[in-house]
Amino acid sequence: MARSFGKVILLGEHAVVYGVPAIAAGIERGASAVARRAAHPSVRFAGAKLPSAIAPELGEALVALLDRLGAPPFEVELTLEVPAGAGLGASAALGVASARAVLDALGAPQDAARVLEAAAAWERVFHGNPSGIDAAAAVRGGCFVFTRARGVEPLRLGAPVPLVLAVAGPPARTSEMVASVAALRARRPELVERALSEIGELVAAARERLEAGDLVALGRLIDENHTWLATLEVSTPAIEHACATARAAGALGAKLTGSGGGGSVLAVAPEPEPVVAALVGQGFEAFTAVVRPEAEARP
Ligand code: PMV
Repeated sequence: MARSFGKVILLGEHAVVYGVPAIAAGIERGASAVARRAAHPSVRFAGAKLPSAIAPELGEALVALLDRLGAPPFEVELTLEVPAGAGLGASAALGVASARAVLDALGAPQDAARVLEAAAAWERVFHGNPSGIDAAAAVRGGCFVFTRARGVEPLRLGAPVPLVLAVAGPPARTSEMVASVAALRARRPELVERALSEIGELVAAARERLEAGDLVALGRLIDENHTWLATLEVSTPAIEHACATARAAGALGAKLTGSGGGGSVLAVAPEPEPVVAALVGQGFEAFTAVVRPEAEARP
């Protein structure tokens, strides 16, 4: 069985589109895959129905992936451990697990660059022009800084980061949320430029705090990042409610993660149980995740 990580963006989403670094991480929950030679390429979901957010394009994505690997037809059986379409990297996790499973079945080496290329071909079917954050997280886990220009730079975590993740309503399409920030930027350029520069400062400070293992300071920076995301109008009442619920239950900080407009919220929570319980009590799907240094991370 081949596995991959899910992903969270700890800070910097949306700003990353305009060149600001983002900090992303892999989480143990991701996807797994088993590949078997078959007459035609096909995708099956083990034990669960196909997630509707990504179901229609899965077959096409598998064909693109096999093509990129130069592989013959395979049937790939998939298991997904994060909600689909919620900004947690589900489609990239499925692509990376599939590529690894096919390489295993071929007896070929698990070459990370080859897996990334195959996953990128898979991701293009869902996202057109993916930034590569999700696939990088799905392959490597750990925590890293990502910029459009330079790609991935590993970040040395001073301590594991305990998170609670919650799903705050059905997600909006990432492309629509990115377009809405672009429209706000056209209407109110000073406001958006200020937000981008403030988020850039928060990311730089968070990078240091992550390296120092300072979760309290990280939590404050995460709260501030969320305030600027709300200024960019990508939060929703459900996201605000989830963040407030997590903070009231003891989280050190909480923010939307990913594109917003719905989707997921993350909270830094050294004592996760009361935070999960409070979120579940308010009707949110919630679960724990730990971001670990790359050398210790296992999907
Ligand atoms: O919704 P997600 O997790 O795929 O994250 C999107 C992140 C954005 O910065 C909003 C868009 C992007 O392409 O970086």
